[in-house]
Amino acid sequence: MTTVTGSGRQPRHVATIVDSGLDADAVLARVGNTPLVPLNVLSRGLGSTVFVKLESENPGGSIKDRTALSMVRAAERSGELQPGGTIVESTSGNTGIGLALIGALTGHPVVVVTGDSISSEKLEALNRYGARVVFTDWSAPSDSPQNARAVAARITAEIPGAWRPLQFDNPANPRAHYEGTAPEIWEQTAGRVTHFVAGVGTGGTITGNGRYLKEKSGGHVEVIGADPYGSVYSGGHPGQILVDGVGNSWPKPDWPKVFDRGLLDRFLRIPNNEVYTTLHRMLNDEGLSLGPSSGLTVAAAVRVARAAPHGSVVVAIAPDTGSNYQSKAFNPVWLADNHIRLAADLAED
Ligand SMILES: Cc1ncc(COP(=O)(O)O)c(C=O)c1O
Repeated sequence: MTTVTGSGRQPRHVATIVDSGLDADAVLARVGNTPLVPLNVLSRGLGSTVFVKLESENPGGSIKDRTALSMVRAAERSGELQPGGTIVESTSGNTGIGLALIGALTGHPVVVVTGDSISSEKLEALNRYGARVVFTDWSAPSDSPQNARAVAARITAEIPGAWRPLQFDNPANPRAHYEGTAPEIWEQTAGRVTHFVAGVGTGGTITGNGRYLKEKSGGHVEVIGADPYGSVYSGGHPGQILVDGVGNSWPKPDWPKVFDRGLLDRFLRIPNNEVYTTLHRMLNDEGLSLGPSSGLTVAAAVRVARAAPHGSVVVAIAPDTGSNYQSKAFNPVWLADNHIRLAADLAED
């Protein structure tokens, strides 16, 4: 049952998977081992190959299934999370969906504290996986009782045996990529990968993959962070970030503990028009329905491939599916409201 507090947004009621009798182990086995596919159209004439790691193919539709599974299993092993114990996390999106799915499959109730800007599709996914959703003011400062972390802490204290994964601090987050995503990339490219591109939210993806790929290649793989406008990671001014799940507006002392900036060779800051034009071209030219942060990483990967030595092998992470963004990234009204122009529109001017 979904509980919504402090918001008029009541998700539609749909069947949840919790009591559906599905084979949990079979679904858990489908987390990870995602396909690595080459770009065919967007990479024409670049002289290098660009591969996209399709994290949209995880059962919950995003890379965060890996993170959620890794954190839950680690907490079960350490005893922090007992059988049937409740998982409580404050998250604006995919980590909540991943935890809701993994919680449903491993017998843990899940409470997700989130803000009003969450897309209706993500809210429905949380509902489908049986999570309890608590709304709060996402912009409330850290000393406010409405702050999402403070609300999550309060709920955790109220529920006996409840546990918070705290993905920004949890070493099991980057470990999911060090032990899973990165060895897959190494194997799928037969060790030929030369450049790795990912967005940075918690930093778990780029830290875990970057560390493994640097180690395996003797430091040869170049690790590049793709950053949206409005994020301070790449040295910009803090501002509105229009790419879900990535970037950061906090000053450096408050950057996530799991993010090891020292592993990155550089950041590329990509304008929103380029992010969304690339995202739409991924759908129209490559037949891949992905989320906005995939537009960001692929746009960066194409830039990298254009400048790299002939024959380079560039791998970009595509963190999630496009189906959770129909009301935003693929909606002309949302794009216009946010002053985003696609290249096709720009060409018509
Ligand atoms: C859509 C999307 N892309 C990219 C990321 C960034 O991944 P990480 O938190 O591992 O840096 C996230 C994280 O939540 C995300 O939701």
